This record gives sequence, C-alpha cells and structure tokens, in this order.
Amino acid sequence: MTFSFEPCGDPVAANERAQRLIDPGFGRVFTDHMAMIRFSDAKGWHDARITTRAPIMMDPASSVLHYAQEIFEGMKAYRLADGGTALFRPEANARRFQDSARRMAMPELPESLFLESVERLVRTDQDWIPDSDGGALYLRPFMFASEVFLGVKPSAEYLYMVLASSVGAYFKGGASAVSIWVSQHYTRAAQGGTGAAKCGGNYAASLLAQKEAISQGCDQVVFLDAVERRWVEELGGMNVFFVFEDGSLSTPALTGTILPGITRDSILTLARAQGITVREEPYAIDQWRADAASGKLVEAFACGTAAVVTPIGTVALPEGRFTIGGGEPGAMTLRIRDSLVAIQRGLAPDANGWVHRL
Ligand code: PLP
Ligand code: COI
Repeated sequence: MTFSFEPCGDPVAANERAQRLIDPGFGRVFTDHMAMIRFSDAKGWHDARITTRAPIMMDPASSVLHYAQEIFEGMKAYRLADGGTALFRPEANARRFQDSARRMAMPELPESLFLESVERLVRTDQDWIPDSDGGALYLRPFMFASEVFLGVKPSAEYLYMVLASSVGAYFKGGASAVSIWVSQHYTRAAQGGTGAAKCGGNYAASLLAQKEAISQGCDQVVFLDAVERRWVEELGGMNVFFVFEDGSLSTPALTGTILPGITRDSILTLARAQGITVREEPYAIDQWRADAASGKLVEAFACGTAAVVTPIGTVALPEGRFTIGGGEPGAMTLRIRDSLVAIQRGLAPDANGWVHRL
C-alpha cells in the first residue's frame, strides 16, 4: 500500500512554530500533519495518507464512543548529536500495538505499516523537534472502532492515526524526585483483564485514583495488585524500579496485569550488560516502607517514554509518608537515566540496535 500526501491547509509559520517550541510542556503542542489508515472487514487496510492535522468528522454512533474499543502507543523521535533524527525501538511499539489489538479484538496493523506511518510523519514534521535539552517529538499512534452501530461486538471498521507532539519534560521540574500516592480503593488491573494492553479504558479507570493522588499532594498514583492489595504493580503511566543498598535492582514481573514497558525492558537490558544484578519479582508495599526505613532500599524510580527515568522521592499512604534516599534523586537512578538517554540521543554506542535512524 502506498501513502498519499494530501495536505489540506497551511502549515504553521516558522516564527510561530519557534514560539510554540520554547517551553512546550507535554502533549499540548501539535505538529502540522497526521497519519491515517482505514480498516474495514471488507477492504482490509486501505487509504493510507499523511494529511494536515485537523478535526475529524465522527458519527455519534461510532462504536468507540460507546464501548471504548481503542488502543494507543507512545514513542519519541529524537534529534541525534550528529544532527540526524531517530526513533527509539519503534519495532517494539509496533509489536505491542499488535498485542493490544489482539486483546481488544481489533485487527493487527502490520509492523511495516506502523513503522512507515510513523517514519513518514516524523520526516514531514521534523522541524517540530525541539532543540532544547530533553526535547523530543512524542508520537501517538492510536486506533479506534469507527463502525456506526450500537450492538456490542467488535467493530467492522477502524481508523488508525498518528499524531505528533513537540514535548519537553513530562513532570514540571524535570528530573527532581516525584511523590506518589498508593491507591487504597482503586486497582488498575486483574488477571485476565486488560492491564497488559495499552487501551484507553485502562487510563480512564485510573483517573479517579490519579485525582486522589493530586488531592493528597502527590504527583502520581501507584497501584497495588487487585487480589491481595499488597504487591506494587505500576504507576498510572509508568513502570517502577527499586534500587537496593547492595547495588541490585528489582522491578515487578510481567504477570499480565502491568504494561510491558519498552523503557523497562531497555533498563533491564542495560543494567544486566553493566553487570548489575536485576530481579523481576513481586515487591510488597509494607516491605518497601520497611526497607526504606532500614536503609536496605536506597532509591526508587519510575520509567516510561513520557517520563523517561524519574526518581521517586516520597511515597504517601493514609497512615503517613515515607521518603527514599532523603527525597533526592539517587546516583544509580541518574546513572541509568543518563546511559539510556545517551543511547537515545546518539551520544553512546548503540550495542543493541535500538536507534532507528530516519
Ligand atoms: N505503564 C503504563 C501504564 C504506561 O502508560 C506506560 C507508558 O507508556 C508505561 C508503563 C511505560 O511504557 P514505555 O516504557 O513503553 O513507554
Ligand atoms: C507514555 O509514556 O508514552 C505514556 O503513554 C504515558 C502517558 C503519557 C499516558
């Protein structure tokens, strides 16, 4: 299938674009274009195009608006040290998009089409990559059920799209440590549910817990398992790692209830290559508190495409708060972040073939 280029409006003027790129924040500054591919049971994948970013017409009976059959991805395009542009492990996002699609009874977009849609959009809009430290083009591929039908069944039609957004740091204040609230009432996922899929519904269900975290003066929510309400799972939009005084690292295992993060996988790979002992194992919230108090646990951090590697300084529970490493970013956390970012930006050797140059 060939992509057509069908702009239907004027791009933003260069001086206006420069203004918007000064302090873009996260997810508010969008580029000039977007990618679209349609799917129907009758025609398969068809009508691939890059077009001007604009509102889309939707029938109010489009089934995504009623039954939330929707999935998405998150990835970044970076400006490399030598002036080139690259995506980081986009093949992994393509495969996770297929995994999410299967779980949500949606058609699987071939990896080649996923990659081509993202590559074409980045090439078209690469002037929107901010030059600032930490700046990147955040890509948001997503797909939703577009059949006009109110019966509950997998849609016979879908629209796949990619948006691009110029971003800086996800958290205000960059890499200073964040605080997290341990959700008491609300859980994110149970065995057999959709926790390992990147579907919009998971995020809708997390919003009340995230709102509670904010009202408790925290930056993010962390979820516990749905059965024992004891085992740490992940944050609303990030995986979590623990660093111990013996220099080892642990993170919850992929048991089907957490998102298999690509940043998580990259950190495990880099840490193992550096000779760090890493464990994928359950870690209980009461253990976390005890280990932080005894000094056995010295650092904790959250990781994801948007958040990169963000130190966790404070953990809040109804019975009180505890801090980790005096609430300051830890040395291992910063080392891991720096080694990951150096590869993503073309400043360190790419031993694993993760940097996908455009
Ligand atoms: N967990 C959740 C719930 C997320 O939304 C994300 C972000 O995509 C992650 C973990 C981290 O995944 P990745 O590293 O692939 O961005
Ligand atoms: C990401 O890191 O890509 C995410 O999806 C997290 C959040 C923005 C939803």
